[in-house]
Amino acid sequence: MSSASPLRVVVLISGSGSNLQALIDGQKAGELPIEIAAVISNRPGVKGLERATDAGIEAITLDHKGFASREAFDSALAQRIDGFEPQLVVLAGFMRILTPDFAQHYLGRMLNIHPSLLPKYQGLNTHQRALDAGDSEHGVTVHFVTAELDGGPAAIQAVVPVLKEDDASTLASRVQAQEHVIYPMAVKWFAEGTLRMHNNAAVLKGEPLPASGYQVRTNNV
Ligand code: GRF
Repeated sequence: MSSASPLRVVVLISGSGSNLQALIDGQKAGELPIEIAAVISNRPGVKGLERATDAGIEAITLDHKGFASREAFDSALAQRIDGFEPQLVVLAGFMRILTPDFAQHYLGRMLNIHPSLLPKYQGLNTHQRALDAGDSEHGVTVHFVTAELDGGPAAIQAVVPVLKEDDASTLASRVQAQEHVIYPMAVKWFAEGTLRMHNNAAVLKGEPLPASGYQVRTNNV
């Protein structure tokens, strides 16, 4: 870990928070030079909030149901986030469509993880859609967030095989195991200053990445 001060991060979640846990574990193991200043969930009572509290991180619920519009919620959310002065906002299973203003405000300093090989299967039910299409490979992408849903430039992609006997749940577990590898990797690179967004492209060590991002392939099943 570098001697520079750790990168201040705010993590947004809506559910289980297993990706959040991977970041907490990486940080605790001394492998991730970050400080998670707060975890914010738009859904009350989710497991991810408990994980945050257990790790001694401030856990905040901001229920979107209490707001009259998407704009009103996003603006309140941005206010809460900015109170922590984060250098990076990490969307970890945050199941909300973002307003363009919100995306713009954090442009180049907000990452998301999406369970498909983007640009394939933006939106929901990605595992079933990969199965229905008969794909032989599937995976997960960490990308910078832009105003386009699941459309910002890819930083890292992990590719996994699709097996004949797979259903959406077995495929999802194989993909999730890789999520927990590549999200900490991307956050580490960002914290170390080697990963950036520039001219709507993800740039690693000064070199623009291909559309798929940095690819990690695994045959682990
Ligand atoms: C993950 O599958 C992620 O790819 C998607 O939402 C899920 C979040 O899982 N965006 P968890 O809450 O991190 O366990």
